Amino acid sequence: MAPASLPSHIDKETVAQLLGGINQHVEALMSGDVKAREAAIALCRSLASALEYPSEAIVRHTWVEFLLTQSLSSARRMRLLASMGIVREVDVDSYVSNSYAKAMTVPIFRDSVNLMHDVCVPMNLKTADFFQKHGYSVPTDALDTPAQHLHDVKGKTHIIQLITEHAEPQALASMMATWMLDRPHWSGEDFYPVKDRLIEGAATDANSVFLVDVGGSKGHDLEKLLDRHPLDTFPGHLALQDLGEVILSISENALPPGVLALPHDFFTPQPIRGARAYFMHSIIHDYPDDKAKDILENVVTAMKKGCSKLLCWDFVLPDRGAPSTLMALDWEMMSFYAASERSESSWKRLLEDSELGLKVTGIWNYSQFDQSVIEAELA
Ligand SMILES: C[S@@+](CC[C@H](N)C(=O)[O-])C[C@H]1O[C@@H](n2cnc3c(N)ncnc32)[C@H](O)[C@@H]1O
Repeated sequence: MAPASLPSHIDKETVAQLLGGINQHVEALMSGDVKAREAAIALCRSLASALEYPSEAIVRHTWVEFLLTQSLSSARRMRLLASMGIVREVDVDSYVSNSYAKAMTVPIFRDSVNLMHDVCVPMNLKTADFFQKHGYSVPTDALDTPAQHLHDVKGKTHIIQLITEHAEPQALASMMATWMLDRPHWSGEDFYPVKDRLIEGAATDANSVFLVDVGGSKGHDLEKLLDRHPLDTFPGHLALQDLGEVILSISENALPPGVLALPHDFFTPQPIRGARAYFMHSIIHDYPDDKAKDILENVVTAMKKGCSKLLCWDFVLPDRGAPSTLMALDWEMMSFYAASERSESSWKRLLEDSELGLKVTGIWNYSQFDQSVIEAELA
């Protein structure tokens, strides 16, 4: 019997068959049959497809492999799709869908592919041209990147606005939800110790704000926090902030009880003062240091010394051996936002800058493939 923790998309028989085939081809290769090498690689790829979650496959195809191939959404032939492991070829001209093909009917996955293919890939295709025109220097201005270069809006329109103009309204939220779907949540027991670090020592006033999710999109991180730490396990309530159009697009009753949604532009002063935690997920990595400091300064002025904590849930780039997804993301940060993923020392340099007056009080890491929680307090 399968252990309870085995993900439902994994078929043990398929995995066993693939492993057998891999063994056979690798043994043949080791005995000198060089033709067996490519068959072994193909089976290894099939094994990886059989093991990965559809959400991981989408991130790989759209974020990582799109940078090289650009071909997924333009594929017209079933044989091509079968050769890429997107459908399964069961006979000549005969195919069945696999978990990845089925996932294409899930709205957040479909939105993610459309966003990447229709909006982001055309920008990526302009990267080489942009670099040629800019003397191969790294973009430093978020209004002068391949994104503006494509649309001829240099100095005028930020990538977020371009996404709003050229993609479906829910596209960015869907991409973020896909990205996070099967990933460990920061508030889980084996990740960041919410009870020890946030609940203990929080103000007990029922009217207080326990945590503000700044740039929290439609509130999916707060929902997951509440799944793990229900409302009656901490004092006060939760606040969700994002741009007016995002907050207005949240349907009535979509947010769980205890979550207060309010429009807020994080380039303006934070209106909620003295909250226990100001949480920012995938926000700071979108900005180069000067703009990141503007956002952080607005939070810092609302923080209460000895009480408030800043939590950034973002990647911490390892000094070597970074996974390909993270490096593809770093590339996109550069070419869309004139930003970058940050190493531990870059995070400390940014947060502990004397103008901000913060002190990093800990970094919690789940694995090298996941974002870390960077915690800071007023120094
Ligand atoms: C990369 S997404 C991250 C969303 C969410 N924190 C998550 O991890 O799923 C960036 C979010 O910041 C919001 N945003 C962009 N500019 C903003 C601004 N000036 N003020 C507030 N929110 C903003 C976007 O609408 C979007 O929801």
